[in-house]
Amino acid sequence: MKSTYQVLSPGDIRSAREHDEFASDLLFGLSQPVKEISSKYLYDDAGSQLFCRIMELPEYYPTRCETEILLRHGPAIVESVGDARLNLVEMGAGDGTKTRILINQLRGRHVDFRYVPIDISESAVSELCTELVQECPEVAVKGLVSDYFVGVDWLSHQNAARNLILFLGSNIGNFDPTRQVHFLTDLWNALNHGDYLLIGMDLKKAPEIINQAYNDRQGVTAAFNKNLLHRINRDLGGDFDPDQFVYYSAWDPFAGAVKSCLLSKAPQSVYIDGLCRSFDFALWEPIHTESSYKFSVADVHKKARHIGFEVVENFFDARHYFVDSLWRVVKE
Ligand code: AVJ
Repeated sequence: MKSTYQVLSPGDIRSAREHDEFASDLLFGLSQPVKEISSKYLYDDAGSQLFCRIMELPEYYPTRCETEILLRHGPAIVESVGDARLNLVEMGAGDGTKTRILINQLRGRHVDFRYVPIDISESAVSELCTELVQECPEVAVKGLVSDYFVGVDWLSHQNAARNLILFLGSNIGNFDPTRQVHFLTDLWNALNHGDYLLIGMDLKKAPEIINQAYNDRQGVTAAFNKNLLHRINRDLGGDFDPDQFVYYSAWDPFAGAVKSCLLSKAPQSVYIDGLCRSFDFALWEPIHTESSYKFSVADVHKKARHIGFEVVENFFDARHYFVDSLWRVVKE
């Protein structure tokens, strides 16, 4: 008998692990007293495309506010960081439109820098690198496919260049307050004294403005949330009928966050083959999909100081809807 063997590549093992992680997170989330699906699963290919459409919606102000901030204050931001050799590190780059504004500022000032996008998605990193090299051939680009902290830690031991970390878009607001502190502490720990963080945070404002941003008239945000159910059906063999759920999202002033969910329009039971079990949904029972925390300027300062960052300067849009806060790492 002929013996055969099989060799699994790191890619095979990684995708199996990602699949298992989705399954176990989902099993945990749907078994909670208040059911939830982690917002990190919103961004598969279809979800990322929907998110690009969200950023262009008339109601979704954060993206335009932050673009305005970078256009207006880009020179001052670059000035504050100084002319030393720089790693411009982006965590969760998205399509990189906002970053390009800063890249052009740095080129204009002839700062010696390289652009380092970090993401766990290999395709996200390679697409961004390809595009950037085409557009700005003279910019050095070094993409890292990695966990953020592992990537930043590795980088800060690589060379003596100063790091400027970009964490834009109010992505920090997707974490609950405890995890925000964990995340920023891990980042502080991976950085060197004198490195910088430019962090985008959406500010507290009149509820109707916030509510409109998460309840757009075209229903793109609803589709973005319902895509989670399509993803479960596709990747884990679920039998969700997305029409049997309705998207609901509202500003909660006590939590200081927008809470988004899918509500069950009927009592129903949904079987998920990949989890080998079914889940019961009561009439109007919610599945929590996302929290989007908003901040006051005082919150920004408290958070920075608590962790060991010094607030260098806050950069606002004209309406003060959003802040890009420049923090400096202080180590003794
Ligand atoms: C990318 C997490 C900042 O919470 O505002 C947009 C995602 N969700 N519309 C946000 C999102 C619904 C967005 N973040």
